[in-house]
Parts: sequence; structure tokens; C-alpha cells
Amino acid sequence: MIYARIAGTGSYLPGEPVTNDDLVARGIETSDEWISSRTGIRARHLAPEGVSASDLAEQASLRAIEAAGCEAGDIDLIIVATSTPDFIFPSTAALLQSRLGIRNEGAAFDVQAVCSGFAYALTVAEKFIASGSHKRALVVGAETFSRILDWNDRGTCVLFGDGAGAIVLEASDRPGVLASALHADGSHSPILCVPGTVAAGQVLGDPFLRMDGQAVFKFAVKVLADVANEVVDRAGLSMDEIDWLIPHQANIRIINSTGKKLGIDADKVIATVSMHGNTSAASIPLALDLAVRDGRIKRGQKVILEGVGGGFTWGAVLIEY
Ligand code: UT7
Repeated sequence: MIYARIAGTGSYLPGEPVTNDDLVARGIETSDEWISSRTGIRARHLAPEGVSASDLAEQASLRAIEAAGCEAGDIDLIIVATSTPDFIFPSTAALLQSRLGIRNEGAAFDVQAVCSGFAYALTVAEKFIASGSHKRALVVGAETFSRILDWNDRGTCVLFGDGAGAIVLEASDRPGVLASALHADGSHSPILCVPGTVAAGQVLGDPFLRMDGQAVFKFAVKVLADVANEVVDRAGLSMDEIDWLIPHQANIRIINSTGKKLGIDADKVIATVSMHGNTSAASIPLALDLAVRDGRIKRGQKVILEGVGGGFTWGAVLIEY
């Protein structure tokens, strides 16, 4: 039996933090009090002009590769989860492969599952490794959501930020991914979407993120609790054997409600949303990397990684780190 284990993690946030007060100073009709009390967000990072998802992915990947103690050339599979790719094509994963100087003609592709993207990408990578077809995967969540925000819509523009997180996942004789579960229900797509596209040299439709915040909130709390229970059941474990919960970092109230619903103590729930806002597919690997590097998450511990987002999509991966 071939298993897949996380060999190293890395993350990257561009530039200096932009605080809630900085947004007020930029003319957005909001306040630090409103944003922090409703969401827990205190700052976000915004990629400077000319910096794209592949640039953020490259920095996070270099850190993950260094932490894994391998060489970029050892990677034979790259999966980038992003909804804000550099281009329509080539994929951000193919661009990343070239940036990292990988010439082994391994596979590289993007997955698009919005804020659940990292859970989807990790699940796909695990299946490639378990099948024996690939040995070492770079799994990345990288986003430049600031590019799809309507800065005149205070209900959304204050919530999101840019960043990237990455892991190296490699073949092992010890289980690392204990269970995973992915779901989607496309009938909910209108409550969180960017309903535009490019055709005939023009933007067709609306190229900005639109969200019914309250509908998303209710949906998120329900499915994050359900899917966490699902992976714990699938692994034959009970919730009190879980060391850490890393939910998608969108809103501290969603994070806290999920932990409460699952009966997981608040001090076992990793929350980084205050520092970088909602970075969509990057949020889970950013939080994972932070908690690994600050020593909270240790080898052998069981961690639930779970996401929910546009589509609607949701999913969870239970790992033994
Ligand atoms: O990755 C998954 C994606 N997203 C999420 O998970 C987000 C889920 N939803 C949420 O986090 C929350 O619903 C929000 C943070 C988006 C909104 O919080 P809420 O408590 O549901 O507020 P609301 O939408 O009911 O808005 C309340 C008020 C409104 O004013 P009135 O109509 O009551 O006078 C808004 O106009 O807050 C106003 N408002 C703001 N005020 C100051 C909306 N945005 C802002 C703002 N600053 N940025």
C-alpha cells in the first residue's frame, strides 16, 4: 500500500499588511469596528500591480520545498488551486513548473473549486500518489482576489486578500492522508460568484465577486460541521482524537461556530483570518504553514483541513501530519 504524507509546508503573503483603517483612509465607507466585529479581519495583503498568482505560488512553493528537504526537480506533479489564475491558459501550475526550473515533464494542472480548492487539490494529489503513478506532489493554493473585487462594494471588498500556501506531499509507507470527502451543489452558485467572462476581446457580464453574505454564512457553518464529521467517521476516529481543526479562513464567527458545533475546544482551532482576510484557496495552507512553523502542529498529530466556497463546493481532508 502506498500512502501520501506532507513532507513540508510553505506560505507567502505579498507586501505590507493593509489594515482596516488603511481601507478607510483609501475612501471605503467602512470602519475597523464593523470589519473586526463582524469578521475578525484586521488586515489583508494586496499583491502589487504586476504580481500574479504564479508569483505568490512560487514563493510559497520554494519555502515548502526547502522545508521538505527535497529539490524542485524531485517534484513530478504540481496542482495549483486558484480562481484567480495568471491567464485563461496556460495553467498557473504549468507556469509554476517553469519558474521552479522543473524539466522532468511531470504533470501540472490547476483545480478550480474556489475556497474549497485546496481540499480538492490535496485530495486529487493524494489519489495520484496512492495509485503509484506519481511520487512527490507540490500542492498549492494561490490567489489574487484583490483583482476581482469591486472596490465600491463595501460588503465584499473588505473581506478578501491575496496570498499563497503550499505543501510537498510525498509517497510513504505510513498513512498521512487518513480520509477525505469532497462535495458540490451547483444549484447554490448565485450566492457567491464572479458572473463574467472574456469573449471576442471583451469582458462579458460582471467581472467582480458578488456575494449574498448571510446565505453563504448559514451554508458554510452547516457544511463545515457536516464534512468534518464525515472525514472523522471515514477514518474510524472520534472527534476527541482530533488535535487541530483548520477551517477555511473567511470569518472568525464561522470558524468559531464550526468549532463549537463539532465540540472542538477553541484552543485547538487554528485561526489566521485576522492577519490576511479571506484568501480563498490559499487560506488553509497559509494557516497550516503558520501553525507548523510556530510549533503548534507537531508530527503525528491529526488535523482536519476543511474548506467551503463558490460553486457551492465544500470538502475536508483529515491528515496525520
Ligand atoms: O469563502 C466563503 C466566502 N464568504 C464568506 O464566508 C462570508 C460569509 N458571510 C459573512 O461573513 C457575513 O455575512 C458578512 C461579513 C459578509 C456580513 O455580515 P452580516 O452580519 O451578515 O452583515 P449584513 O450583510 O447583514 O450587513 C449589515 C449592515 C448593512 O447595513 P444596514 O442595511 O443594516 O443599514 C450593510 O450595509 O452592515 C452594512 N455593511 C457595512 N458597514 C460597514 C456591509 N458591509 C459593510 C462594511 N462596513 N464593510
